[in-house]
Order: sequence, then C-alpha cells, then structure tokens
Amino acid sequence: MANTVLLREMLRDDLEIFFKQQLDPEANWMAAFTSENPADRAAFDEHWRRIMGNPSIMRKTIIFNGQVAGYVSKYMDEGRPEITYWIGREFWGRGIATSALSQFLSIMVERPVFARVAKDNFASYRVLEKCGFAIIGEGSGHANARRADTGEYIMRLDN
Ligand SMILES: CC(C)(COP(=O)(O)OP(=O)(O)OC[C@H]1O[C@@H](n2cnc3c(N)ncnc32)[C@H](O)[C@@H]1OP(=O)(O)O)[C@@H](O)C(=O)NCCC(=O)NCCS
Repeated sequence: MANTVLLREMLRDDLEIFFKQQLDPEANWMAAFTSENPADRAAFDEHWRRIMGNPSIMRKTIIFNGQVAGYVSKYMDEGRPEITYWIGREFWGRGIATSALSQFLSIMVERPVFARVAKDNFASYRVLEKCGFAIIGEGSGHANARRADTGEYIMRLDN
C-alpha cells in the first residue's frame, strides 16, 4: 500500500488511541509540556470534552494507511492561534507529522500562526521548520513530564 497521510474529522472513538499514545513516557519527555499525570483518565476525558465542545479549536485526526496515527489541532492562546500535534510512536520517522501539519496549514488559514517546542525536541522543531515556521523568541516554564523548568522556542508562520 502506498504510504498515505490523510486528515479527517476527529471521532470520539479516536480518543481511546490518543489516550494510549499519551501514556508513552518517551513521547511525554519529548513534548515536555504535557498533562500533569498522563495516566489520569478522568483528567484526559475532561480535557478532551472541553476540546470537542470548543468551536474555536480546529482538530483533525491523522490517518496513515488507514490507521489512526495521531492528531493535529489549533487552539487560541491569548488570542493567538497556536498549533499542536502528537503522533503514536510506532508511526514516528516516516514524515507523517510533516505531511499532516502541512495539510492542516492549508485548511487552517489563519496567519500568523504560532507553535511552542521544547528546545531539545529536535524532531518537532524540524517538523515546524520544514513547514515554514521560524523561531521568534524563547521562553521557559515548568514541564510536567520532566518535573523541571525547561526551555522552549516560540515559533511563528507568517504565510
Ligand atoms: C515530534 C513528532 C510529532 C515527530 O513526528 P514524525 O512523524 O516522526 O515527524 P517527521 O517524520 O515528519 O519528521 C521528523 C523530523 O525529525 C527528525 N527526527 C526524528 N527523530 C529525531 C531525533 N530523535 N533526533 C533528531 N531528529 C529527529 C527526522 O529525521 C525528521 O527530520 P528530517 O526530515 O530532517 O530527516 C513525534 O515524535 C511526536 O508526536 N512526539 C511526541 C509528542 C510531541 O513531541 N509533540 C510535539 C510537541 S511540540
């Protein structure tokens, strides 16, 4: 089968897969700024209940060769659109995040659009860079997954 990355509307059943993906310690370490306790199903359900009910959040499930590989979404942070994404570990390293984000940015047309990435999350930094984002600043904050202050890049896409 050709390697095909597609975006589709998010379904409630997808959340079971996202929850399993959220349990991955390596993924949490990479993303750094994660939920306080990834294994807390009630907190996960509440988080996604709010997302699913918020019309200003644009969200898509990423499908790779017919399988749910992860998600990409846009939410508003202090009035600015910001994107985030997560791919299950078994799908890493095949260009899926890059393709999914690039497709998402062709339907999510608000600009500028922002992203934040832990400074050492080089895979995610590369995904953003390949999609045209550039570093516009730096910050730091408490990263739940590391129980430590962690530096991040603030990135922006203008066109
Ligand atoms: C970050 C993440 C989205 C990348 O997804 P992916 O589908 O593997 O990404 P792609 O294959 O499209 O591209 C990854 C790029 O990073 C590079 N890369 C991957 N793993 C790497 C690593 N450990 N160290 C350095 N570079 C790495 C790849 O080589 C590729 O760059 P290239 O095209 O220059 O070769 C995925 O690992 C993930 O979901 N991680 C956990 C959650 C997370 O970090 N979300 C983002 C929060 S900002």
